[in-house]
Amino acid sequence: MTKVAVAGLGHWGPNLARNFDDLAELAWICDVDDEKRAQYAGRFPTARATADFGELLADDAVDAVVVATPVPTHYELAKRALEAGKHVLVEKPPAMRAAEMDELVELAEARGRVLMPGHLLLYHPGVRKLKELVDAGELGEVLCVYGNRQNLGIIRSNENALWSLGVHDLSVILYLLGEEPSEAVAYGRDFLNEGVEDVVFCYLRFPSGKIAHMHLSWLDPHKMRRMTVVGTEKMVVFDDMELERKVTIYEKGPWKPVERYGEWQTRTGDIHSPRIPNDEPLKLECQAFLELVGGKGDPGQVARDGAMVVRALERLTESLRA
Ligand SMILES: NC(=O)c1ccc[n+]([C@@H]2O[C@H](COP(=O)([O-])OP(=O)(O)OC[C@H]3O[C@@H](n4cnc5c(N)ncnc54)[C@H](O)[C@@H]3O)[C@@H](O)[C@H]2O)c1
Repeated sequence: MTKVAVAGLGHWGPNLARNFDDLAELAWICDVDDEKRAQYAGRFPTARATADFGELLADDAVDAVVVATPVPTHYELAKRALEAGKHVLVEKPPAMRAAEMDELVELAEARGRVLMPGHLLLYHPGVRKLKELVDAGELGEVLCVYGNRQNLGIIRSNENALWSLGVHDLSVILYLLGEEPSEAVAYGRDFLNEGVEDVVFCYLRFPSGKIAHMHLSWLDPHKMRRMTVVGTEKMVVFDDMELERKVTIYEKGPWKPVERYGEWQTRTGDIHSPRIPNDEPLKLECQAFLELVGGKGDPGQVARDGAMVVRALERLTESLRA
């Protein structure tokens, strides 16, 4: 059974530890905070606990390391783990600069190890359904995609709305379209904390001509977790706030009747919601990682897709600063 070590036992890391405890062998838990280690040593009694990341890397029995520490530490910890010959699942984003991410991707390839970014939404059955619809051509030609990730709070002071919220939608947009944007523009404002944008609007344009938009904000009356894909034949909405109707397909689109040559009309047909399995996306993500470690799938593709997200983030950040 794959032996896994989880570093970072804050808000998110224990969820990863729980899943790997179920799906594999959780060999180590690691946090620099004594209280966090004490808190989770009881929850995961078979795992050894350490404050020293180097200690779990030195354990030859450990196959894979999961990094769920704060974002600025990801690159360094992931690099050390890859250098120690471990497979790595690293929370999003794995690096804050594209050059650092490229280095991680090359290192993983050179060592023949998995480098998987923790882009949770890509394992959400609702997002998988969107991808299936797009790839099958069900929507006709996809014209544009836009994401809404808004709420009132949580107001962050250490990372802006683009980095805190945007990574999720960006990973989904790039996954759905499978293209690298040729243009990436972002506008935003830091209303509450200087230098930390609370509201960010992003525009992406792709070589195929498709366009995408993201509205990211923690200063909004609506809690929205929504992705809309507009095609020439159908339009589809993934709404993660919905309990049952996560995905809704609208048979709506533009068309040109022959009798009114040259004039566009709109067509409205059925609206329906396919059944979306209720599986926990994080469990599916952890399973996907273990499959890659076990030799199934293409780990290089997963790492390169992650690099595309970091590159787009870097370009959007440069645009925001400009
Ligand atoms: N995929 C998702 O939906 C999702 C959700 C929440 C958080 N996250 C990601 O998970 C990561 C952690 O987020 P969080 O909210 O749990 O943060 P957090 O601050 O609550 O926890 C981070 C933990 O890492 C520990 N830590 C810091 N440096 C360390 C080191 N060098 N070695 C070992 N432990 C160290 C800290 O003591 C802390 O307990 C972030 O990258 C975040 O983006 C992802």
